[in-house]
Amino acid sequence: MASESLQDIYVEQLKDLYSAEQQILKALPKMAKAATHEDLRSAFEDHEVQTRTHVERLEKIFTQLGEKPGGHKCKGMEGLLAEGDELLEEHEESEALDVAMIAAAQRVEHYEIAGYGSVRTFANMLGLGDQADILQRTLDEEGDTDKKLTGLAETVINIDAVQE
Ligand SMILES: [Fe+2]
Ligand SMILES: [Fe+2]
Repeated sequence: MASESLQDIYVEQLKDLYSAEQQILKALPKMAKAATHEDLRSAFEDHEVQTRTHVERLEKIFTQLGEKPGGHKCKGMEGLLAEGDELLEEHEESEALDVAMIAAAQRVEHYEIAGYGSVRTFANMLGLGDQADILQRTLDEEGDTDKKLTGLAETVINIDAVQE
């Protein structure tokens, strides 16, 4: 594969992630508001702050590449967040909704982890080590968030309340 076309795919994938992050940024305050458990609410709020940094990092990379981030909608994230919205419509605010939101949020994190893993690898293949490092930082934060959500699902949610 010519390095020119790998570069095109790299930019396309970055645009997909940029759109995904923008959509997540809109969804997180709704999820934080709907969370019953304080630790889950603060996890969503913390990730909103992190997500702003993820957007800024992508913007920095687009500037370095002489590209513009817009013009593409991530349909995968649109679908994942539409499912999240359904949960908010279908369930009353409760610990059960918290558990359901954790499941939805972990799908979002895994989507991001897949995307950032790919672009990090492409950046390395293209000899863009600095960009690979930036993307790795975001990838690590997505992974940490995923683990934090697993921890919340396992330890914070009151099993008895959910089973009632
Ligand atoms: Fe992110
Ligand atoms: Fe994320």
